[in-house]
Amino acid sequence: MTNWTNIAQAAKEWVLEAGQRIRESLDEELLVETKSDANDLVTNIDRETEKYFIEKIKDYNPDYKIMGEEGFGDQLDSLDGVIWILDPIDGTMNFVHQKRNFAISLAVYENGEGRLGIIYDVMADDFYHVLPGNGAFLNDVRLKRLNNVPIEKAIIGLNATWITPNKRIDYQILSPLVKAVRGTRSYGAAAIELAYVAAGRLDGYITMRLNPWDYAAGKLLVEEVGGKTSNLKGEPLSLLNPSSLLVGAPTVYEKIRENYLKEYTGI
Ligand code: IPD
Ligand code: CA
Ligand code: CA
Repeated sequence: MTNWTNIAQAAKEWVLEAGQRIRESLDEELLVETKSDANDLVTNIDRETEKYFIEKIKDYNPDYKIMGEEGFGDQLDSLDGVIWILDPIDGTMNFVHQKRNFAISLAVYENGEGRLGIIYDVMADDFYHVLPGNGAFLNDVRLKRLNNVPIEKAIIGLNATWITPNKRIDYQILSPLVKAVRGTRSYGAAAIELAYVAAGRLDGYITMRLNPWDYAAGKLLVEEVGGKTSNLKGEPLSLLNPSSLLVGAPTVYEKIRENYLKEYTGI
């Protein structure tokens, strides 16, 4: 039988070492390139970090498959077997411009079942991990179950893009929500925003398009503390395809679904 605690221990060491390497790289000159558009950045460090993990994981067990953002892993069309889902640097724009507020996100699924999730906020040195069914932790302190929060006292992660004209959602749909909640925040790193929901630093997070590597670990963290996760239509998050995302403490999640998303028809 697979010993997930041992795997979690190995993965923790890799993540901490990768984080250390990333911190050391901050003194060197970065090679910054663009991908799908002028604001979609990638650096040599994103690529090197992904390659580092692939080497470690394949050395540990060559049968493990890896879905990595930068494309050095495997091409996957099913969730069969043990799959590692990796975002080597989530929040590359923050990494390049701010040198903070970026994270390593790493998750392991077995035949679609979550086994391990790690999010490491590298500069804050905040290490979140979850072994589903055995608790979620921030730096080895167990995270509490999420409180019921009334919407008027909720702080929601939401980027201003989605309340200005954009191609994914009618910008008027979410503006009443912005008025209803206590505050909105945007940190520019989906994995950190998900970890914040799990830690109770945010009460919810909504965004229109992420990839599985952005949320594979955060989904497990949030669910372990009793939070809800889905796309904006309430369907389970896909681990193979891009998706919109709504996560939150149960009361906040339900209120947003019931009161603010009725007119939403996208995916
Ligand atoms: C991005 C960040 C950002 C989110 C984008 C993601 P990357 O990931 O998570 O917060 O809004 O949609 O692509 O490209 O920095 O790994
Ligand atoms: Ca990402
Ligand atoms: Ca990334």
